[in-house]
Amino acid sequence: MKLLQAKSLKGTIEVPADKSISHRSIMFGAIAKGTTTVKNFLRGEDCLSTLNGFKKLGVPIIDDGEVITIEGVGFDGLKAANEAIDLGNSGTSIRLMMGIVAGAPFTTTFFGDEYLNRRPMNRVMAPLRQMGAHLNGNAQTEYPPITIQGTTQLQPIHYEMPIASAQVKSAILFAALQAKGTSTIIEKEPSRNHTEQMIKQFGGQIAVEDKTITITGPQALTGQTVIVPGDISSAAFFLVAGAIMPNSEITLKNVGINPTRTGILDVLEKMGANYHLSEIDSINESATITIQTSQLKATTIEGSDIPRLIDELPIIALLATQAKGTTIIRNAEELKVKETNRIDATCEELSKLGANIEPTDDGMIIHGPCQLHGGNVDSRGDHRIGMMLQIAALLTDEVVELTKAEAVAVSYPHFFDDVKSLIQNEA
Ligand code: S3P
Repeated sequence: MKLLQAKSLKGTIEVPADKSISHRSIMFGAIAKGTTTVKNFLRGEDCLSTLNGFKKLGVPIIDDGEVITIEGVGFDGLKAANEAIDLGNSGTSIRLMMGIVAGAPFTTTFFGDEYLNRRPMNRVMAPLRQMGAHLNGNAQTEYPPITIQGTTQLQPIHYEMPIASAQVKSAILFAALQAKGTSTIIEKEPSRNHTEQMIKQFGGQIAVEDKTITITGPQALTGQTVIVPGDISSAAFFLVAGAIMPNSEITLKNVGINPTRTGILDVLEKMGANYHLSEIDSINESATITIQTSQLKATTIEGSDIPRLIDELPIIALLATQAKGTTIIRNAEELKVKETNRIDATCEELSKLGANIEPTDDGMIIHGPCQLHGGNVDSRGDHRIGMMLQIAALLTDEVVELTKAEAVAVSYPHFFDDVKSLIQNEA
């Protein structure tokens, strides 16, 4: 499709609901006993994969168009699916659901689309095997389809995580909730903590001290009401757009500001962006963020910064193309195993539009500022690459054509409409 063009952006957007919390709201609703209601659920393709996956595991879930209601069955009420479960493009669904069915007395098979079926699963299979579940990937590889033969006799685990990953941590936590005894997980770097927070919200117990998480099972959880805040990872596209487009001011309402997710705000601050928070609600961890056209300078992003902004790195790379100096992103090798290899995709696709950006083994080096031009680019089936390229296209008067634009529906079904609503054609 031909991407949207603009002279400047002005206006207000209610960003879509948080993807990580929406997934978990269904998962916790299913494994708790009693009714869970979810308000502001993200009806993006990924979260719908989780919702449909739990229906196949025998959990009654109703979407009245407004609220999602889950009649929780508890861990012991899940039923064997009568066919393999298709989780589409969703890495969060497959990895977290593996941890949940690891404790079930039946066998489950999960698979996904051509992208998910190339993503590594050993990171979850290895600790779940240690806990006693039997898992196999496609033809003995670590790739989906994954078949899991669960056990009601899961053992607790002491696990030092080799990578910083909230998905791996969460899969182990779901299994640990079902194992008899105390498990400890030591994080490599702190990653998003929504699973830990929701264990507490649903009446469970978990202790977190620095990078060490301690949890004793088995535990029974109780249904709750979940109100999902907006997704800072979706807001990030407009935070960057507002900073790099001339004569612009964008207000983003109800953005989630959980501290394990706000690395993008720290980067914007370090690069000199003009933004401020208002209407801060510290209980629901949300705020309104307003950002204006900014003079930007380069920065270095590394170490414990990375898990706090891992999904924002493609759009941060675009931000860096408009900043003065050389921005270095390192320790971000995890980008290679996202929906696509995001180091290659970001560097190759932005280079087609004239960016001065080089891939490295564990990140990127970006020289700015630079004037982008038109071209033909490809989302490669990755929602965040597609959205980043649309924001890049706003910076040029020339035509930018995007292949596989439909990928944005994974996390942000109305993305192009929201961009359109901000466009000012008079400078
Ligand atoms: C997620 C964790 C991250 C992130 C993904 C969502 C989650 O993945 O990239 O989009 O909801 O737990 P990793 O755990 O692989 O870093």
